[in-house]
Amino acid sequence: MVIYQNISLKPYNTFGLEAKAAQFVECTTVEEVQVLCITFNLGQREILVLGGGSNILLTKDFDGMVVKMNLKGIERVNETEEHIYLKANSGENWHEFVLYCVEKGYGGIENLSLIPGCIGAAPMQNIGAYGVEVKDVIEEVQAVEISTGIITSFNNAECKFGYRESIFKNEAKGKYIITSVTYKLSKKPQLNISYGAIKDVLQEKGIDTPSLKDISDAVIAIRSSKLPDPKVLGNSGSFFKNPEIDSSIYAQLKNSYPAIPGYPTSSKQVKVPAGWLIEQCGWKGKHVGNTGAHKDQALVLVNYGNATGNEIFGLALEIQKSVKDKFGIHIIPEVNII
Ligand code: EPU
Repeated sequence: MVIYQNISLKPYNTFGLEAKAAQFVECTTVEEVQVLCITFNLGQREILVLGGGSNILLTKDFDGMVVKMNLKGIERVNETEEHIYLKANSGENWHEFVLYCVEKGYGGIENLSLIPGCIGAAPMQNIGAYGVEVKDVIEEVQAVEISTGIITSFNNAECKFGYRESIFKNEAKGKYIITSVTYKLSKKPQLNISYGAIKDVLQEKGIDTPSLKDISDAVIAIRSSKLPDPKVLGNSGSFFKNPEIDSSIYAQLKNSYPAIPGYPTSSKQVKVPAGWLIEQCGWKGKHVGNTGAHKDQALVLVNYGNATGNEIFGLALEIQKSVKDKFGIHIIPEVNII
């Protein structure tokens, strides 16, 4: 394990932003993570754990130690007639893992195709798309406690999953480094085609009884059609979370803006697409210096080439303010701002 000094983080964040890490280390095994925690007293330092770097906005150089997780490997840990339990190490690429499962006929994550990032980040913010959240298939998360180097397990309930939320973003924030995730996948999958856009693609292709691969291909087609590829245009997916508001407030807004979309999440709450709110404020496709809100999905902020993290952050603040001013709704970033 080599500790590098003064390393550029540009290749390690999907916004493609320039920022320097005072120290940088890559871990390829759980033991290395443990050694790092104990020998280097990580608990006392400022650290930033990086997976695929697809959910961060770097606004400045990082004075502490960046720990890049590069633990590879997928292992079958258990199998029943109905399910297979796969333990994937945190540095495995998420989409490659999805394709692996689709190819083997293991169902549960096909709707989550093409989400950027790696295995270790998936439980962190409970990634979700097209009617599925990763919490639906997580059996266990293994992590190393930073202050002690001890390996700790979290079962599904202990992860305290919510919409783009988990214990790792809240009470356990900064206390653990996720090293592997065990997924419970179905050998007799129930497909989830509730999401309109998936139904439309299948219909267009004349597919009545879709396979896992058909669903995965449909999701890949939908995502590719409206979400920019970070390799081509720097971005970190949805920048804000979709806000949940009181049903009574939603009803009032519906009077003023009859087209406002909303999805009830309980009898008292409605989730409103932040992309719609941002578009209504005139941001969709707008360039502001080197940054802007994407032309096909206003929720995605992009780096047109030479943006700084602060420029993107400034745009995010302006967007946040205009949504608040127009609709009275406070939208909060999904992306971690460093
Ligand atoms: N919409 C607009 N204008 C826009 C964007 C969206 O009007 O510019 C409206 C449309 O009415 C559309 C609705 O918003 O029907 C929902 O849009 P979309 O299906 O694109 O989903 P989203 O709510 O914007 C969420 C996730 C995405 C995920 C999609 C698909 C969040 C914050 N984002 O976006 O996740 O791919 O659903 O399920 O929950 C990510 O987290 O990085 C991400 C891409």
